[in-house]
Amino acid sequence: GKVRAPTHIISTISDDRGEEPCYAGVPMSSIVEQGYGVGDVISLLWFKRSLPRYCTQFIEICIMLCADHGPCVSGAHNTIVTARAGKDLVSSLVSGLLTIGPRFGGAIDDAARYFKDAYDRNLTPYEFVESMKKKGIRVPGIGHRIKRGDNRDKRVELLQLFARTHFPSVKYMEYAVQVENYTLSKANNLVLNVDGAIGSLFLDLLAGSGMFTKPEIDEIVGIGYLNGLFVLARSIGLIGHTFDQKRLKQPLYRHPWEDVLYTK
Ligand code: ACO
Ligand code: LMR
Repeated sequence: GKVRAPTHIISTISDDRGEEPCYAGVPMSSIVEQGYGVGDVISLLWFKRSLPRYCTQFIEICIMLCADHGPCVSGAHNTIVTARAGKDLVSSLVSGLLTIGPRFGGAIDDAARYFKDAYDRNLTPYEFVESMKKKGIRVPGIGHRIKRGDNRDKRVELLQLFARTHFPSVKYMEYAVQVENYTLSKANNLVLNVDGAIGSLFLDLLAGSGMFTKPEIDEIVGIGYLNGLFVLARSIGLIGHTFDQKRLKQPLYRHPWEDVLYTK
């Protein structure tokens, strides 16, 4: 028989060798003809399958709601400073993206991991939060610089409303809300934030859609796909901030001395 020379790369998500490129086996023409949206394309390229409409709509809502949050947040600030230093689009974009991490926008995967583990082990919110405190780990998905118990994050409310209306089950999200109720009893800034809302709701999407086996869910949560949603979404805003600074012909940024505490 034929002997196949070993390859240096294995790839399973897309193929451009035929007449038209395919995403997870779906040809470009079907994507266009069937009116697929960006949520469908993400489903094909990230999860290697077509997902039901409510799932792709949820993915698109996450992307729209996380696209930007003003010029003052870590990512936009870095992008603005970089664009004002005369750097190009890609440099300005990645400078902002590099701030995404455990404190800012990149807590979705850990929120999903910790909420899943606590829920699956039947921990009460009290047991979960206090065990995290003992370990000296902040609860990912909880807390915000400006949002408060009496000034909730509208994005979280919108995601919850969509999921309560369209998802077959929102058990992980309800657990996250119980955790929030407990943390809010400790301090008013310890709200469920947008990372925590997306993390817990994506667990509900994965578990409730019937499209993923248990080992597949564990793999997705283990590898950590979900911060990708924030990275992708916020790129839209960071690109916008770059164009904005260039359009406004903003000069080199220098931080004012008065805003620095010089001390020994
Ligand atoms: N879990 C437990 N306790 C917390 C948490 C948390 N997630 N967040 C704050 N606290 C408590 C701690 O006691 C903290 O004191 P410490 O510094 O001794 O740990 C106290 O509140 C005050 O915290 P601050 O540092 O003043 O809070 P800040 O406003 O700077 O932090 C932040 C906001 C970074 C979001 C924080 O709440 C946090 O680390 N949360 C977890 C990570 C997270 O979910 N990030 C995503 C935010 S949403 C987004 O970026 C789109
Ligand atoms: C964001 O989406 O960038 C924010 O939630 C973070 C912030 O500090 O407002």
